[in-house]
Amino acid sequence: MKGCFFIGFYCIIIFMKYHIVVFGCQMNLSDAERIASVLESIKYKKTSNINEADLIVVTMCSVRQSAVDRVYGLDEKFRKLKDSNKQLITILTGCILKRDRKKMSEIFEYVLDIKNIKKLPQILKNQTNHISGDRLKYDTNYLDITPKYASKFSANVPIMTGCNNFCSYCVVPYTRDREISRPAEEIISEIKNLIKNGCKEIWLLGQNVNSYRDSKTNFPKLLKMINDIPGNFWIRFTSSHPKDFNDEVINVMAECKKVTPYLNLPVQSGDDKILRAMNRHYTVKDYKNKIKKLRKNIPDISLSTDIIVGFSGETKKQFENTAKLFREIKFDMAYINKYSPRAGTAAAKLKDNVSWDEKKRREKVLTEILKQTALEKNKKLVGKELLVLINENRGDDYFGKDEHYKTIKVK
Ligand code: 5AD
Ligand code: SF4
Repeated sequence: MKGCFFIGFYCIIIFMKYHIVVFGCQMNLSDAERIASVLESIKYKKTSNINEADLIVVTMCSVRQSAVDRVYGLDEKFRKLKDSNKQLITILTGCILKRDRKKMSEIFEYVLDIKNIKKLPQILKNQTNHISGDRLKYDTNYLDITPKYASKFSANVPIMTGCNNFCSYCVVPYTRDREISRPAEEIISEIKNLIKNGCKEIWLLGQNVNSYRDSKTNFPKLLKMINDIPGNFWIRFTSSHPKDFNDEVINVMAECKKVTPYLNLPVQSGDDKILRAMNRHYTVKDYKNKIKKLRKNIPDISLSTDIIVGFSGETKKQFENTAKLFREIKFDMAYINKYSPRAGTAAAKLKDNVSWDEKKRREKVLTEILKQTALEKNKKLVGKELLVLINENRGDDYFGKDEHYKTIKVK
């Protein structure tokens, strides 16, 4: 609370306002909902206007350099805002690399590990003492904070965080540390509550959801337990890893009616040598076999993938193998990323020898294939009636997603 003062018989209470800037993935969006909840517990009020905030929290992403640069780009804006509001406090959290922390602390008052967000009230209370977020003891249980959900109908529910895989290009194991799974009872109780309050879509989140594990439960068992919760709702999950995406998960997906017929299974490359260099622990053949089994069990499944083009040493021929896989699998959607070397990762030691223009060219080639395969698949939907969960309204048009995670415009 900013202050409370009396004018005549009236007591005017002015609340501090917070604004959260979210960069990056669904996990960061979910973290932002927990940050909002902690701040509201100490009577901060949300503002969607950054210019009137007394506290700005940024949840950052470090997966690509462009994402890091966007945060550096806030420096000037913050300086201007601080000129007009001397009380303004800025906090950085999310996925932050150790090497960026020092520089970031020149822009932000506090650079806070995401696992420390329960300590926000203490930090804000003692701000004159300048407690460093880093020196506070971690509370790895930050996932048990009841979030302030951004939507009533679709909820992000983290089931695990961190990653043990160390794909050679990826910063996540360094920014989020090793895997921690939430207790199954806690997840089930959160979801039961959401369904009771009318939620229609549950997104199970984690860097590698397939390796979810608590004492008695693994990922497929957890899916079944959620599917057994009474109510009319959809279950979706992300991210999966082909090495952990096994027959048991496929069978459960086919069996559980609430699990939607949509899967994002990042392949990253269609070339075995590149996959080895990426430390992915599967071959193109393994990947294709999984897709084959999946399509046999769930014939109408829609598929998306993540790809990195122009990884260090990727030749034109090796890229062609990725393009070939793209033509063969016929994805419904793909997230195509141009390789961005990240300091501290194993791949950073390799020469980033594919030019930016060539990376752009490879991205374009895959985008063109994707346009064709996606169109081919979407044409099959012509004349069909679909159930759509609306999440946006622009003028007279409504937008949402169907079960297959296709964007639908409702006129
Ligand atoms: N460069 C480009 N893309 C990357 N990704 C992860 N690290 C990098 C990187 N260094 C992509 C992967 C991953 C997605 C979340 O981001 O495709 O699946
Ligand atoms: Fe990064 Fe690989 Fe872990 Fe995904 S599985 S978060 S790409 S290290």
